[in-house]
Amino acid sequence: MKKIYLLLCLTGLALSSFAQKTDGRTTLNFNQNWNFKLGDVNDGQNISLDDSKWRKLNLPHDWSIEGEFSKDNPATPEGGALPGGIGWYRKTFTVPASSKGKQVYIAFDGVYQKSTVWVNGHELGFRPNGYISFRYDMTPYLNFGGKNTIAVKADNSVQPNSRWYSGSGIYRNVWLVTTNKIAINQWGTYVTTTNVSAKSATVNLTIDVKRPEGDHSPVTLISNLMDASGKIVASQTTKSVVSASAQKFMVANPTLWSVEKPYLYKVATKIVSSNVVIDQYTTPLGIRYFNFDADKGFSLNGKPMKILGVCDHHDLGALGAAVNYRALQRQLEILKEMGCNGIRTSHNPPTPELLDLCDKMGFIVMDEAFDCWEKGKVKYDYHLYFKDWAKRDLEDQILRDRNHPSVMIWSIGNEIPQQGDTSALRIAPQLAAIVHGLDNTRPITTANDRPDTRNQIIKSGAIDLIGYNYHEFDYAKFHDRYPGKKFIATETTSGLETRGFYQMPSDSIRKWPTKDGKGMNEDHTVSAYDNVAPPWGSTHEQTWKVMKKYDFLSGMFIWTGFDYLGEPTPYSWPSRSSYFGIVDLAGFPKDVYYMYQSEWTNKTVLHIFPHWNWEPGKTVDIWAYYNNADEVELYLNGKSVGVKKKAGDDLHVMWRLKYEPGTLKAISRKNGKVVLTREIKTAGAPAKIELTTDRKTIKADGSDLSFITARVLDKDGNVVPDADNTINFTINGQAVITATDNGDPVSHESFQTHNRKAFHGLALAIVQSKQQAGSAVLTATSAGLPTVNLQVTIVK
Ligand code: GAL
Repeated sequence: MKKIYLLLCLTGLALSSFAQKTDGRTTLNFNQNWNFKLGDVNDGQNISLDDSKWRKLNLPHDWSIEGEFSKDNPATPEGGALPGGIGWYRKTFTVPASSKGKQVYIAFDGVYQKSTVWVNGHELGFRPNGYISFRYDMTPYLNFGGKNTIAVKADNSVQPNSRWYSGSGIYRNVWLVTTNKIAINQWGTYVTTTNVSAKSATVNLTIDVKRPEGDHSPVTLISNLMDASGKIVASQTTKSVVSASAQKFMVANPTLWSVEKPYLYKVATKIVSSNVVIDQYTTPLGIRYFNFDADKGFSLNGKPMKILGVCDHHDLGALGAAVNYRALQRQLEILKEMGCNGIRTSHNPPTPELLDLCDKMGFIVMDEAFDCWEKGKVKYDYHLYFKDWAKRDLEDQILRDRNHPSVMIWSIGNEIPQQGDTSALRIAPQLAAIVHGLDNTRPITTANDRPDTRNQIIKSGAIDLIGYNYHEFDYAKFHDRYPGKKFIATETTSGLETRGFYQMPSDSIRKWPTKDGKGMNEDHTVSAYDNVAPPWGSTHEQTWKVMKKYDFLSGMFIWTGFDYLGEPTPYSWPSRSSYFGIVDLAGFPKDVYYMYQSEWTNKTVLHIFPHWNWEPGKTVDIWAYYNNADEVELYLNGKSVGVKKKAGDDLHVMWRLKYEPGTLKAISRKNGKVVLTREIKTAGAPAKIELTTDRKTIKADGSDLSFITARVLDKDGNVVPDADNTINFTINGQAVITATDNGDPVSHESFQTHNRKAFHGLALAIVQSKQQAGSAVLTATSAGLPTVNLQVTIVK
């Protein structure tokens, strides 16, 4: 990767996309300037079709998120209650005459779903799986030196086809890849590390060279293994290569990849023919070793640890399914702060950027393939395509993802309906053979909601790690059931919470939904005391208490890190997004976030809740999550109401008080010395809005984001806990408001609107840069409150 070029010449339209050009290979971001039409188009692939009146947009794009919520949308509230349908995308581009003799591909990271792609009227292919990456060879159909038209149809009209919000359209990145006739194949390298220690490591690389049929001309492969600073630490040259080749490198004193220090090397491979570099390809590399032990659990680089992970779906809240690097990175930053070190890509191949980020930020990934096999869960889901496509989709996923050091577990299925069916004895080994045929360095699991000995997937013997979904009460007996086997909690908890809403008594646990819906809340709220879970789940504390007790429990993936669109358990319409997140849909942590932070990090925590605005005389439970201290003392209006200490396996302390307005103050102490102090005051009427942002400076690349939080405060600066003031956001300058949210699972305000009610005092505006440097000023106005501004700087 030598130079960055502005390849304005490659497209007929005004385009400022950048390309990465290496000798022989160009990878051009192909997201800009598409024409889009919602609805089916007769002969939409025809080159002479006039699409000049279609909407102009840049990818990634999700048309569902732009729609209105309705219970009648065929996705159902389980799918997010947003519209599906058919959409067409077209783009006209020129390929330079100088590219004649080269191979030109179009690569899609993912299209939801059932995509068909044409170039110049020729069908390139059909791909039903909405999460898989694929590329097509356009070479035979291109006009070199002339105009070309690409057309893509995405069909998400037949629904329900998902148990969660899918999004619709070309919602991931698209790339135009140009190579020489002889080049490294798509996902054509495979890197593994063996004999890893602090002193040395062996790096093994295989390289698959693609070439025209009948061409046997030998080439030379030169690979440089580079450390994070770009310094070459080892090199290999292999001469007279015709197709595939293997290279081995010794690295002395390697810096190992870990979750605390995710150190990355890379391998840059060149193909040289007659002294000319004809291709160059970079493979990511992290040097690490890990082990799952039946008794001792998981270890990374020889160090025992637990995988403290979360499951997440792919949507980015108000941004829908449209991939945005910064939005993904922000999610991971919030999770990292909590102490989370693992991500399960439930229940499908993720966007490639997620794995890049997990490599860079230090997350252990369980990379999952399927939510069903031949038997489906909803009428039109992937079971319709499994027989014809599963092998291809699974192979492509493994080939694409196997070089990521973050990926440490392959999951070939979630809660597969065929767990109880002898067909699993046939399918599980077939899938496992596909995976291990392409990568034998990582264990395979399935996420089982019926992990007993009648489970036919487990019985098949194809699975390396026995995955339990829920059943935390059974963990202790795991080895009675499966002697000598290795355990992973593929999915846990499913705690339910609405941020900022509290229902007492806090120590009585509710199992929701109830059979007849009785006892649940008419306004579709769920208490945030960690005291509500569905019948199959548990509170956060229940599962974590068991998990931390036994070493053999190698780790867990909590359902879920973030709230997501769809699956509004325990309710249905008018709810349209989940209650399962430790963090709400807008990215605001719920209280239980701090329970994990107090347990999973060394950061000193003292978090007290709920708010302090109640009916006088009401009995209120006050909880504190804390660590690095022996005790917490609570004061109400200056008077101590008692010192509490966690005992046994307690994860919080609680006081039960008669409410009187004023100030609650908590002090944590260690050996008598104050560690932290926290105060919550009774808030008065809304008096002002405070704007804060996660980042004051963003890049002028047309996709970078500043997440701006609006808090409704009283005159003394206390958040008003029940404030629902409507805030109107406007913006001036080199940025736009791309979406707003507040984390309310029942809101039917469109995410596109710039008016957003505060929800328990908070709202969010997501501001996106344009492509010019400068600044932007976000203004928030609300009836009766002073107008406030926040400036974001936008840099090239
Ligand atoms: C699990 C399932 C997840 C989600 C979750 C909600 O059984 O694997 O996809 O539906 O339940 O609790």
